[in-house]
Amino acid sequence: MAIYTVSKTAPVNIATLKYWGKRDKNLNLPTNSSISVTLAQDDLRTLTSVATSETFSQDQLWLNGKLESLESERTQQCLQDLRNLRSKLEAGDSSLPPMSKWNLHIVSENNFPTAAGLASSAAGFAALVAAIAKLYELPESASEISKIARKGSGSACRSLFGGYVAWEMGSEADGSDSKAVEVASQSHWPDMKAAILVVSAAKKDTPSTSGMQHTVATSDLFQERIRNVVPKRFEEMKQAIQSRDFASFAELTMRDSNSFHATCLDSYPPIFYMNDTSRQIVKLCHQINAFYKETIVAYTFDAGPNAVLYYLEQNETKLMAFIYQAFQRNSGWDSKFSAKDLAAFEEHFTF
Ligand code: DP6
Repeated sequence: MAIYTVSKTAPVNIATLKYWGKRDKNLNLPTNSSISVTLAQDDLRTLTSVATSETFSQDQLWLNGKLESLESERTQQCLQDLRNLRSKLEAGDSSLPPMSKWNLHIVSENNFPTAAGLASSAAGFAALVAAIAKLYELPESASEISKIARKGSGSACRSLFGGYVAWEMGSEADGSDSKAVEVASQSHWPDMKAAILVVSAAKKDTPSTSGMQHTVATSDLFQERIRNVVPKRFEEMKQAIQSRDFASFAELTMRDSNSFHATCLDSYPPIFYMNDTSRQIVKLCHQINAFYKETIVAYTFDAGPNAVLYYLEQNETKLMAFIYQAFQRNSGWDSKFSAKDLAAFEEHFTF
């Protein structure tokens, strides 16, 4: 009996305009559009291999080497949607093997520690859906497939594309226009880099799904954010990316991270994702930009204390010198600062 198999990778994406809030929990439709940057394929990513055969007796999933349950409603929803599309294809071409009726074996692994508090569900669902879509030879576009990944985890729809990606919230009640689209390819602005500062590897105490529901239900500020702040910012950020305007991109990114965390604080009871170290990083980034009299770095924080810094490759040394200097007690890194630089640093920074 034949076994059909394919593999796909999907990288992690980090939002620069945050998705926070659902207008429909079952279809996983957001209350606002969002934008992200997908990391390079060989950075943080999930690799998923899927196999199907008439002989497999049940669907099975191995996650990082461990057999895991496939029971979750979200995963079932994704599998069902993919099987429905395959089944339509089979109905039109009797020479195709009837894979839609067969069970699947799924093997998935991350090349980064799942427990490191980094976005893993996005890459995980994106790789799962992309791998099965490839196995089933589905003709649908990446945007179309992104609607299925969205049901697994909202942010996963954006990992179906590389580079700069928007998730358009859409307005249809059935979610048929809530999908990811490319804003610009990675090669449009190739010198953009991301650095992840792992502040804590602990598991987040309020998962995104329940955290955002709580914010929608209790925060007044949230209403202001989705009505009057994000729609304008969405257009401005796309424009900044298209024109490779780092200063605007960075300011919008930092403001949006702050706005999202403000709605978390405005939830009742409040949700705290950032900690003292996160706030020191915020302060440090603003001090670095003030020191150079130029915006060379942007920070953003998801539902946890870890920072992601965006910067242009040509500014890496300028930025990292200060980051390492500020954290040298822990890093054990020799910053090779000149006495002059060090004096300027000491004078300028109140970190
Ligand atoms: C703060 O995509 O994990 O990272 O749709 O419930 O699975 P679910 O939520 P999820 O939320 C991500 C929230 C965020 C912002 C973002 O990635 O846009």
